[in-house]
Amino acid sequence: MREYLLGGIVVQVFHIDLAREPLRNDWLDDEEHARAQRFANDALRDRFTAAHCGLRRVLGGATGLAPHAVVLSRDAFGKPHLAEHPDLHFNLSHSDLHALVAVATQPVGVDIEHWIASPTDALAAEVLHPTEMRVWHSLAQDRRSQHLTDLWSGKEAILKAAATGLRIPPISFEHAAHVSLAFDGRTFEVECCELAAPEGFSAALALVDND
Ligand SMILES: CC(C)(COP(=O)(O)OP(=O)(O)OC[C@H]1O[C@@H](n2cnc3c(N)ncnc32)[C@H](O)[C@@H]1OP(=O)(O)O)[C@@H](O)C(=O)NCCC(=O)NCCS
Repeated sequence: MREYLLGGIVVQVFHIDLAREPLRNDWLDDEEHARAQRFANDALRDRFTAAHCGLRRVLGGATGLAPHAVVLSRDAFGKPHLAEHPDLHFNLSHSDLHALVAVATQPVGVDIEHWIASPTDALAAEVLHPTEMRVWHSLAQDRRSQHLTDLWSGKEAILKAAATGLRIPPISFEHAAHVSLAFDGRTFEVECCELAAPEGFSAALALVDND
């Protein structure tokens, strides 16, 4: 576990190795069981189960509950939260054999992404603000994969902190350490930072500090 300071708030970030996390199907709730059954192959099902066991292990530690006793609910945008512990916020992200869980006293978002294999102009145009696109066009080809994935994961963490996901288009704002997002009559003031990530991955953390 590592601690990060965002907007004066301590955020704990736990790395879960999906190849090593024990698969405890008995920890999952009915929704998690149903989702696990929908995966087309065993490897993907096991990664999902491992990520959710790791999530429950971390949340059990944070709440003092047994992992299977943690009750996961979803907000209006589908973001999982702990209805019985409204002051404890968390977020989960998984990519390949890595998962990250962030825990804080304010709404958080976390994202981990494998570097994009084919960083095309078309893909960049779906993620980057016009100002960021100008930088993109000036970049050498061999820097584009990590650059685009860094911005992708940063924006994804920001949108996950606000819970809106892609209801706010990533091209509508520039990635920065502090971002103001307006959505549905609300403004989210979001702090964001890069996270240490395994080789070949980008990861980011974000926190809403005016909730
Ligand atoms: C669900 C979403 C919030 C993130 O998805 P993702 O990056 O594909 O996947 P991650 O592993 O990082 O996050 C998934 C987890 O986020 C959580 N989550 C789901 N909805 C969420 C929401 N509205 N807000 C925050 N977190 C959410 C869940 O815990 C989910 O885990 P689970 O599927 O195992 O239950 C959504 O924004 C999405 O579908 N994004 C697609 C990716 C994309 O096109 N990004 C553009 C670049 S910014």
